Amino acid sequence: MIILIDFGSQTAHLIARRIRELGVEVYVATPEVASEKIEELKPKGIIFSGGPASVYEKDAPTVDKKIFEMGIPILGICYGQQLIAYLLGGEVKPGKKKEYGPAEISIKYQVSSIKLLEGVSNKSSIWMSHGDHVVTPPPGFKTYANTQTIPHAVIADTNRKIYGIQFHPEVVHTEYGTQILENFLKICGLEVKKSEINEEFVENIISDIKDSVGDEKAICALSGGVDSSVAALLVHKAIGKNLTSVYVDSGLMREGETEVLKKVFKDHYQMNVDIVDSKDEFLKALRGIVDPEEKRKIIGKIFIQVFEKESIKSGARFLVQGTIYPDVIESAGSKHAKNIKSHHNVGGLPAEVNLVLIEPLRNFYKDQVRKIGEILGLPESITERQPFPGPGLAVRIIGEVSEYNLEILRKADAIVTEELKDTKLWQAFAVFTGIKTTGVRGDNRAYGETIAVRAIEAQDAMSANFAKLPYEKLEKISVRIVTEIPEVNRVVYDITNKPPATMEWE
Ligand code: XMP
Repeated sequence: MIILIDFGSQTAHLIARRIRELGVEVYVATPEVASEKIEELKPKGIIFSGGPASVYEKDAPTVDKKIFEMGIPILGICYGQQLIAYLLGGEVKPGKKKEYGPAEISIKYQVSSIKLLEGVSNKSSIWMSHGDHVVTPPPGFKTYANTQTIPHAVIADTNRKIYGIQFHPEVVHTEYGTQILENFLKICGLEVKKSEINEEFVENIISDIKDSVGDEKAICALSGGVDSSVAALLVHKAIGKNLTSVYVDSGLMREGETEVLKKVFKDHYQMNVDIVDSKDEFLKALRGIVDPEEKRKIIGKIFIQVFEKESIKSGARFLVQGTIYPDVIESAGSKHAKNIKSHHNVGGLPAEVNLVLIEPLRNFYKDQVRKIGEILGLPESITERQPFPGPGLAVRIIGEVSEYNLEILRKADAIVTEELKDTKLWQAFAVFTGIKTTGVRGDNRAYGETIAVRAIEAQDAMSANFAKLPYEKLEKISVRIVTEIPEVNRVVYDITNKPPATMEWE
């Protein structure tokens, strides 16, 4: 097995997933318990994850230097590479500027090749997200690859089998990322065997739910998105009529959403769906609130309150939620990770809540959730559905959430959705920016709203590229929005990748 030391990386779990997908067990440890766990589990290899700190900062997470003397191969990624360099006598410095996103790597084959880079093309794309970098590798280390901005993108002491890479092999945008991880596992003497999600895997999840819930009743948060639909169906398969699926109509949903949900789950699947109209409660609580985190927390709190009420009625002891792994990690689920957003389905569960939380998808990424849905027989219209955030349109309205803003956003969003329905995008939606600008309509001055269009391509929720949509398509969307919604007189297109921008605006 491999021990992954998590220095607070947003992608630590993604590294673990890639390793597991290669058929190798992985244990994720905090730096504080790393030595103890290495002693106990005797791993064949150790990976140092990335992390938000700088190695030379006071209190930066670190490890005991003895780790380098154990004869166990080590791979350091980003912060992990910097930590290796720093602890072994090299030098790490802040770059001229922080670097996020794609870059090209050149491998210096003229130096000599190393096993870690076997099968990797000598020019390929990689994914970077860092501020510091190694300026002098430690004694005994050689540099095997560089990028335009990073002189030591890959360093290694092949005698001691210690490797450091500045970029992220776990992210899909790194062309040869999986190959590099596979090479490292082979260096560790591990056998690589690719595993996948299949029927047996899904049956195991269902029987785990059966075991945890037994004959008790459960209440499920059903939003109609992929995550909660798959979670609901898994639980439905496990406990049948003992599941009540509650759909909270928060008034923050997209156009026509409640109707679609009714049709699919009530009519088609004959599930026990309880539709609760809580529009007024949500809008009242959000009045005057502009801070994104505050909005998220308020929405999370009301959701929980509504569920509590419904659960008392239903006699449920369990609350099922469609939380997936990126929700967990981005709410600082790992010890050293920074909190990016409070996801309403992880965040505000008060200590005194009487329900036991069940999150069958907590360890999975979106593409895996889709695969589980597919195996369960869910139609493509659901499994391929774009993700929609728990706090709904509230996090796509910058500033106060009001009926006026919601109505404009809903109309704009329906236009974006309709125009882009045939594209295979991770997400495409409209944002109410809260900015009024000057325009001209029929020879008169107009002062109206600005709608932003966000269309993104991604493989998982960790990183994304804005979609390079044809100008004609963008023009059509823009013309339709300003024509069909008279309150709007300007449309802008968001051309930022993640990182550094998140997918949602709030
Ligand atoms: P961000 O904006 O964090 O979004 O880059 C990543 C993905 O997660 C969705 N998202 C959420 N999903 N509860 C959810 O279930 C939430 O609070 C939430 N916030 C964002 C977002 O739509 C994107 O697909």
